[in-house]
Amino acid sequence: MTQEKRQFRSAAWFGRSDKDGFIHRSWMKNQGFPPDVFDGRPVIGICNTWSELTPCNAHLRALAERVKRGIWEMGGLPLEFPVMSTGETNLRPTAMLYRNLVSMDVEESLRANPVDGVVLMCGCDKTTPALLMGAASCDLPAIVVSGGPMLNGKFHGKDIGSGTDLWRFSEDVKAGKMSQQEFAEAESCMSRSAGHCMTMGTASTMAGMAEALGMTLPHNAAIPAVDSRRSVLAHLSGRRIVEMVHENLTPSQILKRAAFENAIRINGALGGSTNAVIHLLAIAGRVGVPLTLDDWDRIGRDTPTLVDLMPSGRFLMEDFYYAGGLPAVVRSLAEHQLLHADALTVTGKPIIENCKDAPNWNQEVIRTFDNPLVKQGGVAVLRGNLAPDGAVLKPSAASAELMQHRGPAVVFSSVEHYHERIMDPQLEVDENSVLVLQNCGPKGYPGMPEVGNMGLPPKLLARGIKDMVRISDARMSGTAYGTVILHVCPEAALGGPLALVRDGDMIEVDVKKRRLHLDVSDDELARRREEWVSPLPAMQGGYQQMYIQHVMQACEGADLDFLVGCRGNKVPRESH
Ligand code: FES
Ligand code: MG
Repeated sequence: MTQEKRQFRSAAWFGRSDKDGFIHRSWMKNQGFPPDVFDGRPVIGICNTWSELTPCNAHLRALAERVKRGIWEMGGLPLEFPVMSTGETNLRPTAMLYRNLVSMDVEESLRANPVDGVVLMCGCDKTTPALLMGAASCDLPAIVVSGGPMLNGKFHGKDIGSGTDLWRFSEDVKAGKMSQQEFAEAESCMSRSAGHCMTMGTASTMAGMAEALGMTLPHNAAIPAVDSRRSVLAHLSGRRIVEMVHENLTPSQILKRAAFENAIRINGALGGSTNAVIHLLAIAGRVGVPLTLDDWDRIGRDTPTLVDLMPSGRFLMEDFYYAGGLPAVVRSLAEHQLLHADALTVTGKPIIENCKDAPNWNQEVIRTFDNPLVKQGGVAVLRGNLAPDGAVLKPSAASAELMQHRGPAVVFSSVEHYHERIMDPQLEVDENSVLVLQNCGPKGYPGMPEVGNMGLPPKLLARGIKDMVRISDARMSGTAYGTVILHVCPEAALGGPLALVRDGDMIEVDVKKRRLHLDVSDDELARRREEWVSPLPAMQGGYQQMYIQHVMQACEGADLDFLVGCRGNKVPRESH
């Protein structure tokens, strides 16, 4: 490592002998820092999404202490700071409403403070993209440390997965196959250690995407939260960020087009969450990398799903780590020429250097190319008169027999309308029907919640029906499964064609042809459009108003329009 004496950004605060230098140092000294920690060494922010209201991140204070060890050891000064934390399970109306707000918090906190580099402490779904987006817009050296997944759930002698088995259990209760008492018992069995969802849900997917993009040390994606090696990874990341500051290795050097293409391929191999589509588009927007929905389809299409994890497959994150974790997947894809092997990572080395000897210890969990879980994994982007700007579907989590389907729509104009109607035994619906949910997009809900995987009507569940085609402008949890078409653009609340669907309209889905068609004449649609009234409520002020006014559509990453781009980290003016 070369450590030539450079002046770091923080010297503009701490390296001065005037009144302002006094102010910056003196107040910091109330924390018990000896004078020489302000000698021009790299100051490393630890951006922490710790919160007891975000259970998936509740252990991140302790993990940050491990990061600090590494920073001190390498001659840096660690300073931990909180940003808003978004937990999927508690936030209403949806954590997604706040992803962009968190990213602003991160970006502004970094720029305004005397930090030279940052460790991003992430966990629950939105915390990873939000911190990456904020850090990318500021472009200081940054490394991600994820909290890691929970240990496998254990219930009645079997492994159960976060979310995925909850959706199953809930349908089993409705179908009379599981008692209320068993259902309650499963609660404690599903979440039995610190960490985030241990299925290949959005948290695990995004931890994997951070590693795939080159923004973490190898193995960040899969080490369980409570495995001592997670602490080692945090410690080593603390060491590494200090070196990165010396090398001035910034996100803009890592987050190149090649890194995003790698991430799309790796997402396909992981059977990752559809939410990664929106998050990667948003991160790319922050660094000025042109990335589109069609890139997702084109680049991801030929990638086989190799990792056999719920919700697409059988296993869980603990199994994935013991089998070899993400490095084994990187190696396998690179050996089949499906990766830009030379893409730079936070180690300062190309991704292949980090993974070229990675073993695969269990080919049931991480399958080989001749025996994939799904031949063409990835995310399918569908278009047609129902979704002119695109919609997505995850083939690995869908039913093969529904990938080509034609059926009559059963329409719900809101999530409340759905809840009210779906329980009605008189509802005209059968297994060929297509459930359509409107007004759950970014502006319409607001915040684009994870309600797209609508539960099936109880009367069909009782008959043993397990899947139906469902279409909406909402998202779904990365832990969910089914033939669910999501992120329909433009959204219904903006007057997209989804808003014009009525009960009984025939809808055609052909995933192979990437087609989503509403079989209603253009004249009739034009007539319905004239009658259409925007469902957007009157503006109430506050953050929600800003969000609704500025949020972009899902096909563009659902960022706020004025947050796109990198604004750098210069602040010329002093505070006193
Ligand atoms: Fe936090 Fe799934 S709810 S990761
Ligand atoms: Mg989620």
